[in-house]
Amino acid sequence: MARNYFIAGNWKMHKTRAEAASLSLELVAALKNGKHKYLVAPSFTSLETVFAVIKGSNIILGAQNCAAEEQGAHTGEVSVLQLKDVGVQTIILGHSERRHIYKEDDELINRKVRLALKHGFDVILCVGELLEEREAGKAEAVCKRQTVEGLKDVGAADISRITIAYEPVWAIGTGKTATPEDADAIHAYIRKVISELYGADAAGKIIIQYGGSVKPDNVAALMAKENIDGALVGGAALKAETFVPIAKF
Ligand code: PGA
Repeated sequence: MARNYFIAGNWKMHKTRAEAASLSLELVAALKNGKHKYLVAPSFTSLETVFAVIKGSNIILGAQNCAAEEQGAHTGEVSVLQLKDVGVQTIILGHSERRHIYKEDDELINRKVRLALKHGFDVILCVGELLEEREAGKAEAVCKRQTVEGLKDVGAADISRITIAYEPVWAIGTGKTATPEDADAIHAYIRKVISELYGADAAGKIIIQYGGSVKPDNVAALMAKENIDGALVGGAALKAETFVPIAKF
């Protein structure tokens, strides 16, 4: 089944507004005739600045997280209402750094997913196993749990607004990439999980990105795999010279 590739840059906790604006400007120019779907997710502080640059282009604005509550006494959190106000269209949720450094569990991530969908956002739901889980033969079980729990009470009408990003934790920021074959096997498995939850049609259509040390020299081999439909890129998304070749693979 033909699915459009979706290449997303997660800038994590990098860049001042000026730096973010200048990278955005380069990307708008370089990707203007790009064939795929594109997204950049800057820090909250740069969202408005980046939106001013990419508005009207073929690059979507993403946020890296949101609060699980709409608004209220939640010091240090950022709400979906505020994200909507600055032009965000898509929210990345359940990133491994949120899960493992900030101890977000499946229940919290699921509440965020449902709140984001309720407010009309698209969601990139990240899943992926730790090295010890892979070595213990639990990679599939972990990805299944994170997918099923993350999508709990998400109705069939909303599944088209979900992208899954498979990001094996041991491959993130380490320079170690899953082999295309290993990644494809997990992607196929996640697609099967989606099929059990939402049926074959939804499973055939859902975009499953790979993330974890995607670089210009490994992107083509990964994207050539049947079940890999895009990339969530961290380190290599911080410079046009590395992100553009990935985005235009
Ligand atoms: P990386 O990060 O490309 O630097 O490995 C990927 C991610 O965390 O989304």
